[in-house]
Amino acid sequence: MARKILVLGSSNVDLILRIPRFHQPGETITADNAITVFGGKGANQAISAKRLGGRVRFLSKLGDDSYGKSYRKYLIENGLPQKFLLKDRKFPTGMALIEVNPAGENRIIVSPGANGSLSRKDLRRFPQLWQGVNVFVAQLEIPLPTVKVALQAAKDHGALTLLNPSPSVPLCSDLLSFVDFLVPNELEAESLTGIKMKRDRDLPRIANRLLGRGVKNVVITLGPQGLFFKNTDEEFWMKAFRVKVVDTTAAGDAFMGALACGLSGGEPLRQVLRLANAAGALATTKLGAQPSLPS
Ligand code: RIB
Repeated sequence: MARKILVLGSSNVDLILRIPRFHQPGETITADNAITVFGGKGANQAISAKRLGGRVRFLSKLGDDSYGKSYRKYLIENGLPQKFLLKDRKFPTGMALIEVNPAGENRIIVSPGANGSLSRKDLRRFPQLWQGVNVFVAQLEIPLPTVKVALQAAKDHGALTLLNPSPSVPLCSDLLSFVDFLVPNELEAESLTGIKMKRDRDLPRIANRLLGRGVKNVVITLGPQGLFFKNTDEEFWMKAFRVKVVDTTAAGDAFMGALACGLSGGEPLRQVLRLANAAGALATTKLGAQPSLPS
């Protein structure tokens, strides 16, 4: 029985600028030489799962421009099936401007481009998309109605659904009720629930609020503090691996890909979360999104 992971989401070209500090409005500062790498939360999560041995399909949309052409070639060379890499003739390939400070923290601005036109119609074009899929993964850099329809279709096909609610937008309980694993970071969890996290003990309350809205399992990623897991049967914290941080970009994507991979392989939950924690930590030790995703 084929156990495949289907990732639906964005592909961006990331322009990375290493800066001495985050600056003020109206201020000009100088960065190191700019670096261009492939990124986008969807593509990062697909490549992460693939590098960890998952059998991955990735549905995404790129522009009909030089970035789109080289990105498509790269994704195919990395083992992702060509037929699900769509081309938009009107919009350019998605772009992200990423500032990284010396502590490895980032600030990201995304211009969706072709990602913004990945539609429900595109999903319907590929009935074979769901064949053999046991884990479905999405994020929120493509239109929300597309994500919602895909989550519902994934449930109809008996797949486990994983949603990384990033970037943060309000989500209705209708959509959340299709989610088996919701994986926000602290800020996303706060903005989804409206609960400000002041102490560790606020985490169970935040997770409870999300479970009450129909999610089956909540994994809140906490950066160097590790993660907090909760479902209706159990809750626990898991520590992070200690590493020397260079750039935190795509740590969450590495985590998602590993989570998808472990769950697709039917491994026990704690073991899967440990793998995801390790992948997330390793991704912070190198600069850039996809160059930093571990194998
Ligand atoms: O999660 C990191 C990603 O966010 C970057 O690759 C960038 O493209 C944005 O989508």
